[in-house]
Amino acid sequence: MRIALYQPDIPQNTGTILRLAACFGVAVDVIGPTGFDLSDRALRRAGLDYAEHAALARHVSWGAFLAGRSGTGAGGRLVLFTTAAETRHCDFAFAPDDVLLFGRESAGAPPAVHAAADARVRIPLLPGRRSLNLAVACGIAVAEALRQTGGFAAGGLAGDDAEEGGSAMGATTDSPAAGDAA
Ligand SMILES: C[S@@+](CC[C@H](N)C(=O)[O-])C[C@H]1O[C@@H](n2cnc3c(N)ncnc32)[C@H](O)[C@@H]1O
Repeated sequence: MRIALYQPDIPQNTGTILRLAACFGVAVDVIGPTGFDLSDRALRRAGLDYAEHAALARHVSWGAFLAGRSGTGAGGRLVLFTTAAETRHCDFAFAPDDVLLFGRESAGAPPAVHAAADARVRIPLLPGRRSLNLAVACGIAVAEALRQTGGFAAGGLAGDDAEEGGSAMGATTDSPAAGDAA
């Protein structure tokens, strides 16, 4: 399971998501250009010391992300979370290697990203409510995907060593700009 953030705008949200990812052993792809630098103080504050344990791959553009998917191990289905979808996330059958893709805070995901996704799902809201905060939507999505696929750590009490149930953490990679088509 991976989280992919399309051109995020707000460092606090990305920091919160890196903390989430570190806690659940989910890798993160940050697709640029971003509205901030990954060394941003607000990002670091939101991510606390957890963020440095997240497996983070940075991509200079959407094209670089697509070109590098196999290289980062992110070769599973692209499942776009969007308010423009018909399928409810809780009715969708997630797979362990899915990449959960999210749009930017200010503008969501553009048509080309919708078209490239293998599936599009929405988190159902009450009528008249436009959307959730990005980090909240991501938390709900990851929880449902891990629940369905048995991806949560296998028990243990808070404070136990968190060696079980997670993927290798701590690596930060940059995808090459070569092949960047967008
Ligand atoms: C703040 S929302 C984007 C709002 C933006 N103004 C728009 O029109 O799409 C940021 C991202 O969170 C995710 N998101 C928020 N609410 C969602 C929902 N109810 N269902 C699925 N994804 C949601 C989507 O990935 C979205 O692109």
